[in-house]
Amino acid sequence: MIFEQIASGGCQSYLVGCDETCAAALIDPEISQIDRYLALAAKHGMRIRFLVDTHTHADHFSATQELARRLEVPVIMHRQSPAPFVDMRVDDGEMMLVGDLRLRVLHTPGHTRDSMCLVLPDRVLTGDTLLIGGTGRTDLPTGDAAALHDSLFNRLLKLDSKLLVYPAHDYKKQGHSTLERELAGNPRLQKRERAAFVEMMGSLNLSMPTHLTEALRTNMSGGKTIAQLLSEAAAKVSFMSMEELKGRVEAHESSLLVLDVRERDAYAEAHIPGAKLLPRGQLELRVNQELPDPTRRVLVYCDFGKVSTLAAATLREMGYTRAVALDGGMVAWSEAGYPMKEGTEP
Ligand SMILES: [Fe+2]
Repeated sequence: MIFEQIASGGCQSYLVGCDETCAAALIDPEISQIDRYLALAAKHGMRIRFLVDTHTHADHFSATQELARRLEVPVIMHRQSPAPFVDMRVDDGEMMLVGDLRLRVLHTPGHTRDSMCLVLPDRVLTGDTLLIGGTGRTDLPTGDAAALHDSLFNRLLKLDSKLLVYPAHDYKKQGHSTLERELAGNPRLQKRERAAFVEMMGSLNLSMPTHLTEALRTNMSGGKTIAQLLSEAAAKVSFMSMEELKGRVEAHESSLLVLDVRERDAYAEAHIPGAKLLPRGQLELRVNQELPDPTRRVLVYCDFGKVSTLAAATLREMGYTRAVALDGGMVAWSEAGYPMKEGTEP
């Protein structure tokens, strides 16, 4: 068996592969690490056959759907998962065959309704049901402290105590543990009576995860994150540095049309001399009047360089093949002390 633990911040993903057949499963992949997973699988000579999320993640962006599209392999989640892009729903007591390996599903609701652990002969991937020195929280959507108590004490912790524990989160870089060690030392497991456990979970007062809304939106619907949209747009356009643009502005280069895609107020306050105003919100509707020549070289800028990247990508899609985005934005431009102009005239 090949077994790789891949950390991304505190999130842990796992590549579990069968040496005999070169088939592998990727568990709890995170969107920013896609290239790393593919490179690791290639390094081991493995083909990823299954993509598994142990539950609906509320704190990071799952890569299962994107990888499923690229690799043409199924996404697997528990039957209770709300995500419409899941190809194979599994339930307690079932197994996934990864080559000669068997990953047994243990349904362990509590952190979320669709939480599951994956049991291998010598280890268990515990998702967010059991962490090293902690447990998953139960105060987010579909969380249930009483159910977590049941999942822990009547299911997971009844397995062979020598099993290694590999959680979906490990904030302190401890790597792994064992069920035995957690039962003895994990502070959350010391309240073994159900009511006391529920009360403890209810009084934790944890802060909300940073990207809660966006993570739930994308993980539950299969929609795209803002970072994904930006990175897709950035892959479709080229950029020009602020210094390069400054030189061209100062030389009054007429062949380059500078386009400010912010709102009128921001433009009037300060803009790059010679820039034409065309707010992002009106781009598609006014482009025919404002930019009649699709072969013209157009540089787009905004405040921070994000909206302009999206706008430049839209322009390229519309046939403005020489649209480029400013690497930077008006905020950095002004901080650099580069030339600016007030008013509504270019
Ligand atoms: Fe989680």
